[in-house]
Parts: sequence; C-alpha cells; structure tokens
Amino acid sequence: MKYDIGQLTIDEKLKLLSGRTCWQTYDAEGKLPEVFLSDGPNGLRMIDKKTISAKTQETIKATAMPNISFIANTWNVDMAYLDAQTIADDCIENDADVLLGPGVNIKRTPLCGRNFEYFSEDPLLAGTLAKAYIEGLQDKGIGASLKHFCANNREYDRLFISSEVDERTLREIYMPAFEIAIQAQPWTIMCSYNPVNGVYASENAWLLKDILRDEFCFNGVIVSDWEAVHQSARAAKAGLDLEMPNRAKAYEELKEAYESGWLTIEEIDTHVQRILELIEKSKAAKKEITFTKEQRHENAVKIAREGIVLLKNEDNLLPLKKGNILVGGAGYEKPPFGGGGSAYVETDYPVRSLDKELAERLGENANVFTSPRTYFLHLEFLFNANKLLELASEADTVVYCVGTNQDIERESIDRTHIRLNATQENFLLKLLEVNQNVVVVVETGSAIDMSKWIDRVKSVVYLSYAGEGGQEALADVLTGKICPSGKLNETFPLSLDDAPVKNYEGNLFVDRYPEGVFVGYRYYDTFNKNVLFPFGHGISYAQFEYSDLRIQKITETDYDVSFDVKNVSSIAAKEVPQIYVRDVFASVSRPQKELRAFDKIALAPGETKRVSVKLNARAFAFYSVPLKKWYVENGMFEILVGSSSRDIRLRQKIQIEQPKEEQTTFPS
Ligand code: GLC
Repeated sequence: MKYDIGQLTIDEKLKLLSGRTCWQTYDAEGKLPEVFLSDGPNGLRMIDKKTISAKTQETIKATAMPNISFIANTWNVDMAYLDAQTIADDCIENDADVLLGPGVNIKRTPLCGRNFEYFSEDPLLAGTLAKAYIEGLQDKGIGASLKHFCANNREYDRLFISSEVDERTLREIYMPAFEIAIQAQPWTIMCSYNPVNGVYASENAWLLKDILRDEFCFNGVIVSDWEAVHQSARAAKAGLDLEMPNRAKAYEELKEAYESGWLTIEEIDTHVQRILELIEKSKAAKKEITFTKEQRHENAVKIAREGIVLLKNEDNLLPLKKGNILVGGAGYEKPPFGGGGSAYVETDYPVRSLDKELAERLGENANVFTSPRTYFLHLEFLFNANKLLELASEADTVVYCVGTNQDIERESIDRTHIRLNATQENFLLKLLEVNQNVVVVVETGSAIDMSKWIDRVKSVVYLSYAGEGGQEALADVLTGKICPSGKLNETFPLSLDDAPVKNYEGNLFVDRYPEGVFVGYRYYDTFNKNVLFPFGHGISYAQFEYSDLRIQKITETDYDVSFDVKNVSSIAAKEVPQIYVRDVFASVSRPQKELRAFDKIALAPGETKRVSVKLNARAFAFYSVPLKKWYVENGMFEILVGSSSRDIRLRQKIQIEQPKEEQTTFPS
C-alpha cells in the first residue's frame, strides 16, 4: 500500500471520512492525493476545476452519450462496455477519477423522474449491462459508482420517505442488479437517500454490512449520495465509508463518537483503509485516452444504432425510400439528448437536423422538406401547426417527432402522468386526419401512453434519449441503412391506470410496496393485463425463425439450453433471443415468467446461429425468508424462448426432483 495509514493522525483519519469539497476527497494536509468524483452515467457532467471555488461554477463540455435507459434497449453488453469506455476518455481528459454511475434502480413505476437514468424493470437485464459498463470504465482506470443502493424508485421526497419493502421483494427485485454488477467490483457503491424499512440507507447496517459486504462480497468504498448522511457517526458505525459532500458537522460528530468510545479506532481504520485503497487504485491506474473527440461522437452514433426500437411498422411504411417526405414535430431539429438533473450532459457537438440527415441518405430518390417547429410553445405552435397540416396533405409520408425533455423527465421530480402534452397529442390527431402514412418518432426517457393515436399510426420508432448521435442513427434506421435491433427494457402499459404502481402508496413518511415482486412484466403477465408494448419488444425489418430447442440436464438444477435462430429475410439483421423461466406450481406466489438469460446475435441474410445458455439454480429459485436462502422447490418448470416476453417461440417443460430432505414439506 503506497499510502500508509500509519502516517495519518486521528484527526486526519476522521476528516478523510467525508469530502473536502463537493467533489473531492480530503488530502490530509497534502499527505494524500485527492480523488475527484463526478457525474454522470450518461456522460461526464463535471464542474470545471478552474471554477470550482468561483461564485459561478461552469460545467465542462463532454460527449452526450445515449442515456442508460437507451443502453438497456440495446440489450448488448458490448455497447454498454463501449459506452463507458467512451465516457472514460472524457473523464481522463478532465482529471475526473470516479464517475458517479451507473444507476441500476428498478423501474417500479413509469412515473419515476429518473427512469431515463436507469436500465430496466428487470434486474437481470439491469445488472448484466451495469456489470459491462463498470468494466468499461475501470478497464480505463476510471472508478465507477454503482447507485443508488437501494429501493430509490421514485423522486418525490426521496430524502425522507421510507421505502417499505418486504425482504423477499428486496432480494428478488431491488437487490439482484447490484449483486450481478458487483461481480465487476466497482470501486464505489453509492447508498441511496431514502430510508429502507425505516432506517436511512446511509446508516442501515443490514444493507451496508450484512448484504453488501457479507453476502455480495463488495470490497470497495461505500459512498453516500450527496447529503444523504444525517449523522456521520451513525453512518460510519453502520458501514458507510465516505460521506459526500463535505459537511461542517461531520468531523465534530465523528470526533465526539470516537472520544466517547462509541466509534472504535478499528471501525475508523477500516473505513480509512478502504479510502486509501480507492486513492491508490485511482492514482496507480493506467489512464490512456484511445478515442479522439470525433471518435467519441462516432461511438455515440454506433451505440445509438443498436438501441433504437421499432415498435410498429404497418404496410412496410419503413424504411423510407422515396417520395415527398415531410419532417416535423418537437425534436426533429434538436431532440432531447437526455434527462435533467445530475445526469444531464452539456455537449458542444453541433446538432444534426433529422430532415438533413434523411435527405443526405435518400438523395435524389426523395424530396425531404420540413415545416416550422411545433412544440410546447402554443403561440408559435398555433401558427406553425396549420402550416404543417397544409404541407402534410401534400406529403407521401410524414415523420413526426414527439416527446418530452430534460425539464419533464429529471432528477428530483416524478411525472404526474405518462401522456404526451396535449398540444403534441392533439396536433398528431389532426395530422392523422390529413395523412395516413405517418411515422411517429418518440423521444422520451420512459414509457408513454399512446392509446389516443397508436391505432391510427402505421409506424412508431422509439428513439428514447439517444444522446448526441441519435439523429444520425435515427436516419440510418428510418432509411434502412441499418436494421433496427433495439428491444424495450420496460413495459409500455396501455395507460397509467393499468400500471401496478401509479404513484407512491403511503403517507407522509412511508411508501409501501404492496405489489411485492410483481413489477413490470412480472405484474402484467401474471395478471393477464393487456399492454401497449411488452417488455423485450422490438421488431425488425427482417424476420427470424426459432427452432430445435434442446434442454440438457447437467444436474437437477443446472441445464444447458440451446436453440437455432434463422434470419429468413434478405437483409443483415440482429436479434435478441430471450430465455424466461416459469415455475408451474410453487408454494409462494411467483411471477408468471422471469427473464433468466438473453443474447444479441448478428445474422446475415439466410444465416442460422445456434444460441446456447446455461441455467443454474438461481434461474429456478425464489428467495425463501423462512429458510433464509435462495430455494429451488421441486416440481415442474417451463423454459420459454422468445423474441419478447410475449412473443414466445419455443417452450419446453422440465421436472426438478432434488433429494426430499432438502425440501420443505409444503406443498406435499
Ligand atoms: C444526486 C444524485 C446522484 C448524484 C449525486 C451527485 O443527488 O442522486 O445520483 O450522483 O447527487 O450529483
């Protein structure tokens, strides 16, 4: 260890347990280098160090990457890795040592203001992509901060309202993404603001010690969310290593607890040792920039190409090939790159207008024209809207962009509904009266209710928040230069009324989670609810055939599952085969199916690939609170293979018969 704990006085040790500034660790009067922690998961959001003590701080410009939710729509670990590798270069260039991301909180409700910043409603998808993202960052010597542990699933009053969640639901839904991502050993994990079952996460020893340290074997630094600590000594005693940012009372609270003997030197040294290891890792890491600024942008485009989701495409309206094409709506000139708050990235990349991108790709075959922007500005809208309607009646196809933006989907607020604003929705309905060949491009960070217009629109493309490369990637998809291969990471319900969680259920102090494990598709599928678009949904310009499912039993709870996927079209394409498991009969209520494996495969025209995945005991288990363990119950299970959670192509039942003595007597 280069930085010897023995060189530190007790006062220096106590001061090391909280930040020196908003973003930097304490330097022990020059004995230690500082570690600079900076946002955010969608690209570097960092205060310019030159202005850090100035009255007006400035945010540096960086590459606005596709948002975390968009990364999840790629279902591609290589894209998550490349995303983080690209952000790491911006970090290295600006001397940021730890990036405060990725966030893996589960999308419990479509209303959560930060859903754009999180991966999915499913913990396996979230954890698997987060693990790749962390590896991408740390392979370049930039630390990650896996956040926010845990059960921070809404923004409303997030600093105080307690998430009241039963243990089985915590372990099956809200913790596994962390458990999977910790396999990459993030340098830090950030605890959440909220209490969990009445104890603040920042001082919740069950979470920080029993779960993170003892069960998940996390060996890095546990850092607080910013201002999530209410009493520094209680937090340190419960296992928090580093309080951020600096707080005037932190040192005196720690000093008093130490001098009274309540906080021992062993406990203090354990925290100090971990922080010294973080400093060591950060300063010893080989940090090499490998992408130029332009290449970082190209990476943003490359990733965006993989995460655009084609939700609907009737009459093969897409891809666009020729004719008069009118482009209009909210974001065609400048779509929302990302959601608001600490994850918002300031980029200076010149925005590319969709109409120009389309014209460039279609050339002489098409006449691409636009109307004045129609967005939230009612006055501007009213004037422009009529113009657009006039033009629309002359167009063969209309590409109409709708969506939200960083002021609507942002940290610290939740949405109150999931519809488009009335201006956009009403105009779209008018547009559909004058032209039936409409392609709607949806630019939102989370699910929206399309029920008013979906049946009258032939094609819908979900751009989500695709970052600064989104327009180029969108034009590639709309013109067929590339085949869309994104899949939804969250269910799009028909309306908010159908969602298992509409807003928080509780009182001023507690948000109850009565839905338990029935979150997202686990709810909709189990209770046979119709949805607008299911979890894992996304169509292609190509078609795929699934065949020859084979399930080989290795042990009673270990199986090799393999099957063929064939591209039966004449274009190159990518598919995301998904493998779900259903427990046909259980002694506890279980979701109708749960995602247990997935892959993303590229297929040339006519090509067949064999997909093979391994299912181990966890794929069949539920968490038994009485038995205090993950428990595989004997009986019949079904393996489901599909192109989405509701497009199951292959299925086969298996029987698990473990020795009786390992089983409980129920349900026999
Ligand atoms: C914020 C966010 C967290 C962010 C941190 C620093 O409140 O909850 O995600 O990294 O504070 O900005």
